[in-house]
Amino acid sequence: MGNSESIDVDSGCVRHLRRRWCGAVLAGVAVAFSAAVIEREAAAQGSGDAAAGKAKAAVCAACHGPAGISVNPAWPSLAGQQPVYLAKQIRLFRDGERVEPTMQPFVQNLSDQDVDDIAAYYAGLSPCP
Ligand code: HEC
Repeated sequence: MGNSESIDVDSGCVRHLRRRWCGAVLAGVAVAFSAAVIEREAAAQGSGDAAAGKAKAAVCAACHGPAGISVNPAWPSLAGQQPVYLAKQIRLFRDGERVEPTMQPFVQNLSDQDVDDIAAYYAGLSPCP
């Protein structure tokens, strides 16, 4: 009897320690996770200004759709794509490294700021029609 009591006390103590340890790990994971989410959101926003991008993207709507959803299978939808990817592709088209003759005239005079703004605008749109 005495023995089992002391075992109960021991395991209770171990349980208690384990709970505290677990709690600390979970808190650490939660902090790391929210830091990662905040970092991702900052990266997702990029350095562009979506409101400015909306006006600059007016000429793109003819092909890519007014909400960034294309209805023509030859024209990609841009809504909800990663802003860094969008900006990179627009720069490639602008600089003639990715070739799309029908689109090039619309992007050839964009500044880097224009590109980032337009990328931020499309990235912020819902990819669902
Ligand atoms: C005349 C039609 C047309 C217009 C206007 C147009 N695009 Fe495009 N765009 C295309 C086509 C076609 C493609 C696909 C090219 C390919 O197949 O490689 C494309 C591709 C893209 C892509 C690559 C998407 C991906 O998933 O890789 C981006 C980004 C893009 N356009 C941005 C723009 C922006 C920004 C504007 C306005 C400044 C614009 N486009 C105006 C026709 C157009």
